[in-house]
Amino acid sequence: MSALVIDNIGLLVSNDPELGQVRDAALVIEDGRVAAVERAGAQGDERLDAGGRCVIPGFVDSHTHLVFAGDRGDEFAARMAGAPYAAGGIRVTTDATRAATREELVALAAARRREALRAGITHLEIKSGYGLTVESEKRLCSVAAEFTGDVTFLGAHVVPAEYEGRADEYVEVVRGDMLAACAPHARWIDVFCEKGAFDEEQSRAVLEAGRSAGLGLRVHGNQLGPGPGVRLAVEMGAASVDHCTYLEDADVEALAASDTVATFLPATDFSTRQRYPDARRVIDAGATVAVATNCNPGSSYTTSMGFCLALAVRDMRMTAEEALTAATLGGARALRRDDVGHLAAGARADVAVLDAPSYSHLVYRPGVPLVAATLVAGRVEWRDPDFGFRSA
Ligand code: NIG
Repeated sequence: MSALVIDNIGLLVSNDPELGQVRDAALVIEDGRVAAVERAGAQGDERLDAGGRCVIPGFVDSHTHLVFAGDRGDEFAARMAGAPYAAGGIRVTTDATRAATREELVALAAARRREALRAGITHLEIKSGYGLTVESEKRLCSVAAEFTGDVTFLGAHVVPAEYEGRADEYVEVVRGDMLAACAPHARWIDVFCEKGAFDEEQSRAVLEAGRSAGLGLRVHGNQLGPGPGVRLAVEMGAASVDHCTYLEDADVEALAASDTVATFLPATDFSTRQRYPDARRVIDAGATVAVATNCNPGSSYTTSMGFCLALAVRDMRMTAEEALTAATLGGARALRRDDVGHLAAGARADVAVLDAPSYSHLVYRPGVPLVAATLVAGRVEWRDPDFGFRSA
């Protein structure tokens, strides 16, 4: 078995409780997995020189809606001019997505996946939710499965126009034929539990059906106002409840006493001109947190995890270290995975090499593309052409 060594790492963030952060390190990779963390100068069959840079676990983006067609730039511009964000915008993307061919959807998702690799995202979750018919949701789940093992069926994203005023009937379709068609392609089920989308009872019904079909549970909750989403997610043992922008004391207490990860999506709060969640309060209460991009055309059209970290630190009272952990290990926990989000022996060798001496530059230099190279399972999937990542 041949070994690849990423050598001359100025600062390695391992996210391993014993190793912690290691200065002057080398990462030894065999067969796509981390074999060892050693001192700089380790031997291997192939050597990549990090030139003293900071190396972190690749970002684990636990919340994306990467498969869609159409553009909502005008909606964003109107919002910046004062219009409010509303869940109903999802229908605009649904019309465009239904009209696209499978090949077009694959090409669009592949371009966004490449963009995410350039941002250091090595593993991601992808939701359906812009089809909202049995056939188009099935198609979105199967397209998403070409890019990740973490596909989430989100037929309960919003009630489609043809079911206006008949939400309960639509919920029965989601729980029945749509779930049956999508479950073979998915690992997770999700529901948008919010005014204007699905109420608590409807959300519970969707989650129960998904669980019976063998899917893990995720919830969009407390995005646009206080509501039952967080407590429902905890009650049902969901892996993650996402957004968590409007949290009451009881929500924070419930999260802290549970295994449900609170996933923050700060680029959404930026892009919808909402307040930011108080992550400090949630972390101090003892809950596990994640930060994700929520890449989607309506509320957060970005693949820049660095931007999300900058917001989390600047506006949500997280430290740079907490934000980095949330976007790596936290994302892995939100997806209930132990193979990604850390760099210790046995982990998948998913790595981001930063063109910076420390991860804090992700926050300190907002908007600057600081990822010099991205490796997935030990393979260089992207590298900045200007980056002298020498092979010797
Ligand atoms: O996570 N909250 C619901 N879904 C997406 C928004 C999608 C859209 O506006 O198209 C979100 O923000």
